[in-house]
Amino acid sequence: MNLPEPIAWTGDSIKILDQRALPGEERYMEARTPADVAEGIRAMAIRGAPLIGIAGGYGMALAFLRGEDPASAKNALANSRPTAVNLFKAIERVYGSADPIREAITIHEEEKARCLMIAKHGASLIKQGSAVLTHCNTGALATGGLGTALGVIYESWRLGRVRMVWVDETRPWLQGARLTCWELGRVGVPHTLIVDSLASFLMSKGEVDAVIVGADRVARNGDFANKVGTLALAISARHFGIPFYVAAPSTSFDPDLPDGSCIPIEERPEEEVLSFRGVRVAPHEAHALNYAFDITPRELVSAYITEEGIREA
Ligand code: MRU
Repeated sequence: MNLPEPIAWTGDSIKILDQRALPGEERYMEARTPADVAEGIRAMAIRGAPLIGIAGGYGMALAFLRGEDPASAKNALANSRPTAVNLFKAIERVYGSADPIREAITIHEEEKARCLMIAKHGASLIKQGSAVLTHCNTGALATGGLGTALGVIYESWRLGRVRMVWVDETRPWLQGARLTCWELGRVGVPHTLIVDSLASFLMSKGEVDAVIVGADRVARNGDFANKVGTLALAISARHFGIPFYVAAPSTSFDPDLPDGSCIPIEERPEEEVLSFRGVRVAPHEAHALNYAFDITPRELVSAYITEEGIREA
């Protein structure tokens, strides 16, 4: 499969595919310091929960390699984005390791392996000839491997179970339009882009057989945070009797948090909503609220797909 490689360890830096430039340009940047990695995460050059974790691990490895204070590197990386728990797990793991570089590389390899297992398990839930709907980008770009929700879609398509994919555009960063369409196009999976607010109507018309999304953090009771708009999809799917699946590796599960209300939700700058590609679209006096994620209660989840198998909600 023609999957992109969003991150690579070079020996003394990490090579990053700058996801802000896609799909127009395949531009690579080099992060040499933990601060570079933290800034890449904050600015959305590197994104998607598992990939943020992998990058955080490499960021810590760079701190050790360069003789920087690991505690301040950990602090800088932990302050880049708050919601994906993968980041915090990975930086703690490398921080506590006797061989930080090997540990960071292992984290990357393990995430790739988890994706393959998630894809295999998830495909067993998808019925022959399905039209599936997905949100944001959960593919190679978000994970460094096959993907989570998108990995399930790739595998189900390979087995002839997915007929086509509805891709939510995913305001305001357009991860669906820019990244998921780009990935599906490279692999050759039939797909159609929709504005986020069309999803419910398509469900009402019987055009959606299953919804599959990823997660940035799953609390102990199964409530989970994912890209804003996920909650609305889950409510609509329940209303129309459509299965709603969450595909996520164990590294996105946070057993320390009892329920979704404890998950920190990132609030990003209002300019991301008030403007489009640098052009102001709202009146100058307008303000915007820009939560990057929302919380979906476990009651709305049909099943969780992890590398260990299928877990009922
Ligand atoms: O803001 P982003 O692009 O990092 O958000 C990504 C998502 O919400 C994904 O659905 C989530 O990280 C799961 S990716 C495998």
